[in-house]
Amino acid sequence: MKILLTGGAGYIGSHTFVALRQASFEPVILDTFANSHPAVVQRLETITGQPVLLERGDVLDTPWVESVLRQHQPVGVVHFAGDKAVGESVAQPLKYFHNNIGGAVSLLRAMTAVHADGTVPTAPTLVFSSSATVYGDPASVPITEDFPRSHTNPYGHSKLVIEDMLTAVRAANPAWRVGTLRYFNPVGAHPSGLIGEDPAGIPNNLMPFVAQVAVGQRPCLSVYGNDYPTPDGTGVRDYIHVVDLAAGHVAALQALLNRGESFTVNLGTGRGNSVLEVIKAFEAASGCPVPYQFAPRRAGDVAQCYADAALAKELLGWQAHLTLDQMCADTWRWQSNNPMGYRM
Ligand code: NAD
Ligand code: UFG
Repeated sequence: MKILLTGGAGYIGSHTFVALRQASFEPVILDTFANSHPAVVQRLETITGQPVLLERGDVLDTPWVESVLRQHQPVGVVHFAGDKAVGESVAQPLKYFHNNIGGAVSLLRAMTAVHADGTVPTAPTLVFSSSATVYGDPASVPITEDFPRSHTNPYGHSKLVIEDMLTAVRAANPAWRVGTLRYFNPVGAHPSGLIGEDPAGIPNNLMPFVAQVAVGQRPCLSVYGNDYPTPDGTGVRDYIHVVDLAAGHVAALQALLNRGESFTVNLGTGRGNSVLEVIKAFEAASGCPVPYQFAPRRAGDVAQCYADAALAKELLGWQAHLTLDQMCADTWRWQSNNPMGYRM
């Protein structure tokens, strides 16, 4: 049972590759390596003990994606490919509308073509990487899937448009089976320390920045805001271990393939942790100090964002198990074994 992973060489895609292999699927990576490194392929072969099926190319190239689908005949597709930096999306909105929305249109057209002509005989089955960003600034927490959606930047806007596009495609052809997964804050790394998050340049996100401070690559963390209406004044997020998140994709595919019903679910732990709690947990896991200073709030940040994770448990039988301490320990193993990421 082949599964095509667009963007499968990236952070979440590579961990999902491992989880799918362990569940006896045969994942195939489709990636340009625009935001990943070819060295991940060798690492995945070491972890799984099997060769990696790789198609190097662009999801925007519809005829080529069609040919990949015809060749591999996957029973399902997970669409990770896209750009994800919020700040960059504000500076370069067209990059995000082109690659994220254009990439989804291209993939959906290619899937439509190969299913319409019978080349791939199973029902079109897609899992889409959405984000808690579609909840904008939530009125309350925890967030359930029926909360109103909004966007505050072009990245978030692209996720909203793709969610709506998927609804329209399903309305036009009810044979489509679509699982929309709204991730909260993915962190951590595979326990082998061989694969992990490898951001280019200065990390935007908290956990990779904390890890680089702990390893001594950066002198100090700026904590953006200590006057939020939260227990310690710093921002609260639902950090989820990427290994739990990867298992959520396996559960989503199994639900789509076995039951055939579409769904939209949050993938989070249902718990929130503050920035100061993350720093403390990381210091304990690494044994290294993480110097920090308070800085003004970052534009666009919300005070609190965490999931109500009940629907994923009910529909997929999935829930997150790994703790913040394990997220920090696994991030630290990856960071300290690979201080330059995959570029060594
Ligand atoms: P990532 O950048 O590590 O992985 C994305 C992969 O897609 C990269 O390997 C990149 O080379 C590839 N790619 C980009 N454009 C492509 C194209 N046109 N054709 C083929 N490949 C292309 O990102 P990630 O953290 O693994 O995120 C995966 C998905 O999950 C993204 O859609 C992202 O928006 C979504 N998401 C991520 C987070 C997060 O915090 N990491 C949170 C919510 C949602
Ligand atoms: N933070 C700092 N210092 C830093 C980086 C972050 O204090 O150097 C704080 C932020 O202010 C926030 C928390 O750490 O309170 C988490 O910030 P991240 O940037 O790690 O994560 P966000 O919740 O802001 O954003 C993430 C993804 C977005 C996505 C959003 C909602 O990066 O793509 O979750 O799902 F849109």
